[in-house]
Amino acid sequence: MKKITIKKIFSKKNKTPIVCTTAYSKAIAKIADKYCDIILVGDSLGMVLYGMKSTRDIKIETMIRHAKTVKSFTKKSLVVFDMPYKTYSNKFIAYKNAKKVMRITKCDAIKLEGGKKIASIIKYLTNKKIPVMGHVGLLPQISTVFKVRGKNFIQEEQILRDAKAVSESGVFAIVIECVVESLAKKITKIVSVPTIGIGASKYCDGQIIVSDDMLGLSDLSPKFVKEYVNLKKIIEKSIKKYSSDVKQRRFPSNKNVYK
Ligand code: KIV
Repeated sequence: MKKITIKKIFSKKNKTPIVCTTAYSKAIAKIADKYCDIILVGDSLGMVLYGMKSTRDIKIETMIRHAKTVKSFTKKSLVVFDMPYKTYSNKFIAYKNAKKVMRITKCDAIKLEGGKKIASIIKYLTNKKIPVMGHVGLLPQISTVFKVRGKNFIQEEQILRDAKAVSESGVFAIVIECVVESLAKKITKIVSVPTIGIGASKYCDGQIIVSDDMLGLSDLSPKFVKEYVNLKKIIEKSIKKYSSDVKQRRFPSNKNVYK
């Protein structure tokens, strides 16, 4: 299994779709590693695993703990660490935190949410050889309205400006979240780096879905999610059966006993 490099991701632009998902644990990391180019340790873990109300609530220490595990069980995929809210409010804070994250987790890159406003922070980091992935469109860390973006001219222009600024600041790829298809297509055409869509159409250079969403473990699923299996139903059935086995003394059976 050959390790996927940033150069390799870059070379896929306009050629081969880039496959990405999130992972927060050993089990998912090991499986995702077989099929994905990029594994993101997303700040979505705050909501997905810890039931937090927003991605803003997750602390960098918790993210580091999960990222260390994911990275140590990933051999091939590029592992990206999603910098949590307020950990990159200026270039010095961003660099201090990014260095700490890279040193402790050994992740291959970090991801920052935001457009033109954070372009100089991204530039500072990439100049210091920290590989950065951008994220434009819907920005869960700062948004209060969770609706598709780019439906009107003003929004479209602003997101296009954001994407250009982020692309020119040295990122190796950009996540585009929840924008109309025509805008995702325009961004993908004008930026030189690969775009990774989440609710941003087939015109992006790659796709990402939160793993718990595609596995049917989440409570809320937006329209852009495709649920490949409903693990919640399967798990419920299994635990229900286990409960009844214990109560009926069918478990443990002879097969599960040391004699
Ligand atoms: O935190 C996350 O999972 C993300 C993806 C939605 C791209 O940022």
